[in-house]
Amino acid sequence: MARAENFTCTACGARFSKWSGRCGACGEWNSVIEEAPLSAGPARRTLGAKRGRAMALAGLDGEDSPPARALCGIAELDRVLGGGLVPASVILLGGDPGIGKSTLLLQATASFARAGLKTVYVTGEESRAQVRLRARRLGLSDAPVQLAAETNLRDILTTLEGERPALVVIDSIQTMWADHVESAPGSVAQLRAAAHELTIFAKRRGVSVVLVGHVTKDGQIAGPRVIEHMVDTVLYFEGERGHQFRILRAVKNRFGPADEIGVFEMTGRGLAEVANPSALFLGERGEPVPGAAVFAGIEGTRPVLVEFQALVAPSPTSQPRRSVLGWDGARLAMVLAVLEARCGIPFSGLDVYLNVAGGLKVSEPAADLAVAAALLSAREERPLPADTVVFGEISLSGALRSVAQTATRLREARKLGFERAIAPAGTSPGPDDGAWVRQVPDLVRFVEETFGAGGRHARRREEHGRFHDH
Ligand code: TYD
Ligand code: MG
Repeated sequence: MARAENFTCTACGARFSKWSGRCGACGEWNSVIEEAPLSAGPARRTLGAKRGRAMALAGLDGEDSPPARALCGIAELDRVLGGGLVPASVILLGGDPGIGKSTLLLQATASFARAGLKTVYVTGEESRAQVRLRARRLGLSDAPVQLAAETNLRDILTTLEGERPALVVIDSIQTMWADHVESAPGSVAQLRAAAHELTIFAKRRGVSVVLVGHVTKDGQIAGPRVIEHMVDTVLYFEGERGHQFRILRAVKNRFGPADEIGVFEMTGRGLAEVANPSALFLGERGEPVPGAAVFAGIEGTRPVLVEFQALVAPSPTSQPRRSVLGWDGARLAMVLAVLEARCGIPFSGLDVYLNVAGGLKVSEPAADLAVAAALLSAREERPLPADTVVFGEISLSGALRSVAQTATRLREARKLGFERAIAPAGTSPGPDDGAWVRQVPDLVRFVEETFGAGGRHARRREEHGRFHDH
């Protein structure tokens, strides 16, 4: 007989038959806890002889009208939702504690309420007075939002059945408590049960529900990943603590594109929309410095220019550091390996630090060439021209692969006053004449054209006793 899987990872929800210090599924430490089983009695029982109703089957060619969406007027939020709020949809908003989830949702509910939607805001974390104080600080006291401080799910659902709002915010799902489940609030079982009940309510009554979920490192409270599969839309609110801006990212959306981002700036009066993120991310650029390269990227449907910054310095230890912020560490290792193997430019014995300026997280492989450019510029101690943007994917052979949406990238660069672009060969420049786009077939040619022969890397190559004929 299979052993009961009574142990659950609070980070990813994986189940195990015994405890371990590290989750075998997601690798998180100290996140596996013992849970009472979800239901009592034998795990497998058949449905038995009782018949159900026959369900209606339909063809694929039927006509259904698209869902009517409600716009709140905060354009960055409306876009991330896929073009407004879909009725009866369930949205999970995850993020670190203190990142600004409650602030964003109070602003959003106020906007939806002012746009005519009946909205209810249920807080399980703060008192009514605290939320009112925040509303006053944000200048939202007059918005027709209905507020409650409550954690008992049965009471909340009973109230909502009577009120029939169009939008409900539950802040946070981890504080909710369903009395038919024995585990403590914040446990995986409670989180699942509460999310399940609220999802059923949303679908049955046509109410949109937003669940707030704290991302947590503490194994005592289950994280939002446990309920990601139950909801229609998963949004994460991200940002570096020291930075002024916050990014709302759709990682799953049944009603719109995933990977869409909305950019906000934190101010004393709440979150302000940033309509032109490129200008914000490039805002602090001064004189050209070695190690900086501007990448023409795409986030969701929007072009975003960001600066990659690299620092390369002799390592005091035999194990040089590879430190990455805002990009993938494995991808950095790949770019370093290709630079060494295909261009004869070693980084052994050198510490490498790579940052995306401003705290944006970039995941596109199209950033490879910008990373290589930043690394080379840092290593050669020669700045790249300030008026140049770079993009292109690097393959293991050292060839540059063209990337999607080049016309959009180039248009954004032009709009922000860039005079030159370096891109893979075969890049179609779009309606522009393209004379300002330099097309490069591979990384070796890029190094030659950008840093020339006889640079520091050539000398280093001789020091390392290598010879590459190109
Ligand atoms: P809060 O919305 O409470 O974060 P969360 O719900 O994710 O835990 O915000 C955290 C703190 O930051 C709070 O003290 C208010 C402050 N804050 C601002 O002053 N301005 C802003 O624009 C935001 C978003 C937050
Ligand atoms: Mg909060």
